[in-house]
Amino acid sequence: MKKKIAVILGDGIGPEVTEQSIKVLNIIAKQFKHEFSYEHALMGAIAIDKTGNPLPDETIKICLASDAILFGAIGDPKYDNDPTAKVRPEQGLLKLRKELQLFANIRPVKTYETLQHLTPLKPRILENVDFIIFRELTGGIYFGDKTLSADGTVATDNCSYSVAEIERIAHLAFQYAQKRKKKLTLVDKANVLETSRLWRKVVQKIAGEYKDVTVDYLFVDNAAMQIILNPAQFDVILTENLFGDIISDEASVLAGSLGMLPSASVGNTVALFEPIHGSYPQAKGKDIANPMGSILSAAMLLDHLSMQKEASIVREAVDWCLSNKFVSKDIDALNSYSTSAIGDLICEYIEKQVTGEGHVHHERLHKSTII
Ligand code: IPM
Ligand code: MG
Repeated sequence: MKKKIAVILGDGIGPEVTEQSIKVLNIIAKQFKHEFSYEHALMGAIAIDKTGNPLPDETIKICLASDAILFGAIGDPKYDNDPTAKVRPEQGLLKLRKELQLFANIRPVKTYETLQHLTPLKPRILENVDFIIFRELTGGIYFGDKTLSADGTVATDNCSYSVAEIERIAHLAFQYAQKRKKKLTLVDKANVLETSRLWRKVVQKIAGEYKDVTVDYLFVDNAAMQIILNPAQFDVILTENLFGDIISDEASVLAGSLGMLPSASVGNTVALFEPIHGSYPQAKGKDIANPMGSILSAAMLLDHLSMQKEASIVREAVDWCLSNKFVSKDIDALNSYSTSAIGDLICEYIEKQVTGEGHVHHERLHKSTII
């Protein structure tokens, strides 16, 4: 297949992790006889530096003309502590989500046996954890009107949802649940918020169309606790924008590292794939960041392009790296592999598997162990 992929490297470690995903996509293309072409586009702090605009029009054009978008990360510390900044990198990503109508952000959460020691949770809590968060991405408080009084002492953020906005993501989430363990949990704050009551009403109505799916409802404060206390109870979590942002970072604790979680943002046009981690500015340019969240996002991209076999070999390669401890510094400080070495190993594994040359000779790649 011939596919055009828009690449937005973004800020911080975005470029170096995304570069590994491109290497992986190139190996997949070579081994499975696909043709992937890439067009780079600017977004975030780097786009502000180069053009004054966090999302140049050219980027939207490139994205709309592509079959999928691969995105790195956004954000720069120089804006984080400056609440008066008029232009912010994150505005680029929010605008892109809105412009491309990427209304559903899909974040799968699973645990890895080899990373269990990194989580502060007891191993029995991590058993059978495998769920997926459907976060609404183009509405709610993120996109409501914002005000600041003239004297700067009162601020507001409006949270609004329409039935149509809730329905379209709810249908997607129910359809996913039907293909999984057939359970959907709506996370809201219906005891307090009007928008949450609308979510409940709409979801209750839609549930009638998906009789094979069991639905339950959790207030977000309780859900935050349940994710840590009994995460195995979840299958598909459906929630609004802000709650989804918060609980998905929380859920990454279950995986052992934020660096492992991929995501897909889908909607009415082209879909976007990005790791859920941020720009990790402290690691920028050092070749130490974990590229697996990005590479697993590339696997989701392949799935989206109906390349399931290709996607599963990428996931298998990541699992193989983990079980051989080919991991980045944040996962194993003493025996770490660089971002690019992990990318190379994953590519080598894929190549050897597809060509049937057997396993990679990983002894060669082991570094000396400090005892
Ligand atoms: C995410 C991020 C973004 C969000 C930021 C960078 C605007 O935290 O994708 O989860 O809040 O949506
Ligand atoms: Mg977030």
